[in-house]
Amino acid sequence: MSANHLIAVDALHRAMRLLVRGFGSGEAEVNAVCDNLIEANLTGHDSHGIGMLPRYAASFLEGGLQPNAHVRTVLDAGALLRLDGCAGFGQVVGGEAMALGIERARTHGCCVLALGNAHHLGRIGAWAEQAVAAGLVSLHFVNVISRGIVAPYGGSDARFGTNPFTAGIPLKGRAPLILDFATSVIAQGKTRVAHNKGERVPPEHLIDDQGRPTTDPRYSVIEPFGAILAFGAHKGYGMAVLCELLGGALAAGVTQHTHDSSKKRVLNGMLTVLIDPAQLGDRTAYEAEMLTFVDWVTASPPRAGFDRVRLAGDPEREWRARRMAAGVPVDATTWDEILGAAAKLGVDSRRVHAEAGLG
Ligand SMILES: NC(=O)c1ccc[n+]([C@@H]2O[C@H](COP(=O)([O-])OP(=O)(O)OC[C@H]3O[C@@H](n4cnc5c(N)ncnc54)[C@H](O)[C@@H]3O)[C@@H](O)[C@H]2O)c1
Repeated sequence: MSANHLIAVDALHRAMRLLVRGFGSGEAEVNAVCDNLIEANLTGHDSHGIGMLPRYAASFLEGGLQPNAHVRTVLDAGALLRLDGCAGFGQVVGGEAMALGIERARTHGCCVLALGNAHHLGRIGAWAEQAVAAGLVSLHFVNVISRGIVAPYGGSDARFGTNPFTAGIPLKGRAPLILDFATSVIAQGKTRVAHNKGERVPPEHLIDDQGRPTTDPRYSVIEPFGAILAFGAHKGYGMAVLCELLGGALAAGVTQHTHDSSKKRVLNGMLTVLIDPAQLGDRTAYEAEMLTFVDWVTASPPRAGFDRVRLAGDPEREWRARRMAAGVPVDATTWDEILGAAAKLGVDSRRVHAEAGLG
């Protein structure tokens, strides 16, 4: 096995653009996919970064992922929009859907945006960031159509996905609050990363194929599969069900309800609620009240083991600053899988390796 790599950001962009062209994507799509995935790595979420490309390649090769697809409007009722992602790259159809929803929220003060049949939407925080950049509050309930990997509270096998919940709130003159998490105690991609690195996961995260507690990430990565637990016991489980019912049944018209693990494609359904806060209330008053509260909360003296109180979104911004300067670490197994994906897409993997500054 080769060594772990630290790849400069520009070189990583060049190498990944070369690979993603192998899907037959137009240049705008190549850039959207690479920018989104590398941004996930930069913000510390390697689980949703370039390590997803082998899965995307497998999905594409079996006909699940449709390059160069765009959103199709299924229902247009002013502040209610329903869109079909046409199994296109989530990095493309997610951005298109958000742009349409943002326009509606500006016109009507709010928008309920239902997006179904999108291929993997990646880091959902990216879509909240798009909304807050337009001055909007956004809430996202997301389901995952793939192999079920999370067990219900009190259950002993996997029944649904890691169903993320995300919210974005603009804060006047400050970086926004971006709360963005999987409702599983650990993102599935993080078990893949741990497995690739040969590491264990903490206790109380996983059960094995017999429903017994385990710290071995293999049970979420290779057969026989066990399951990841929902975060926060019955509470996180409740949120996961909410995401399945709202992002899945309501927005996408489809939920996860089989044990079928034969397909490589990962589809997301996403229900997004966008609110233009400036149209809802007294802008000066709510902006000031939000700042008063976040200042109050973050002024709590740190307890042992903590340097300060953070707001959601702060850790990602800290990761980003560090990795922009130092480069993006990629473990050897993940990098080998990425080169393998390049080869399967008909791209010269040695060139990808060289573009990354590694050979
Ligand atoms: N597309 C999909 O199907 C899918 C599925 C699951 C997860 N995801 C994505 O995976 C990513 C990772 O999810 P995760 O559950 O591993 O995230 P996580 O457990 O790292 O939690 C991240 C959230 O917690 C906040 N946070 C972290 N430390 C904090 C601190 N000290 N103080 C205050 N807030 C703090 C972060 O700012 C962020 O909002 C997310 O971007 C999510 O959208 C996507």
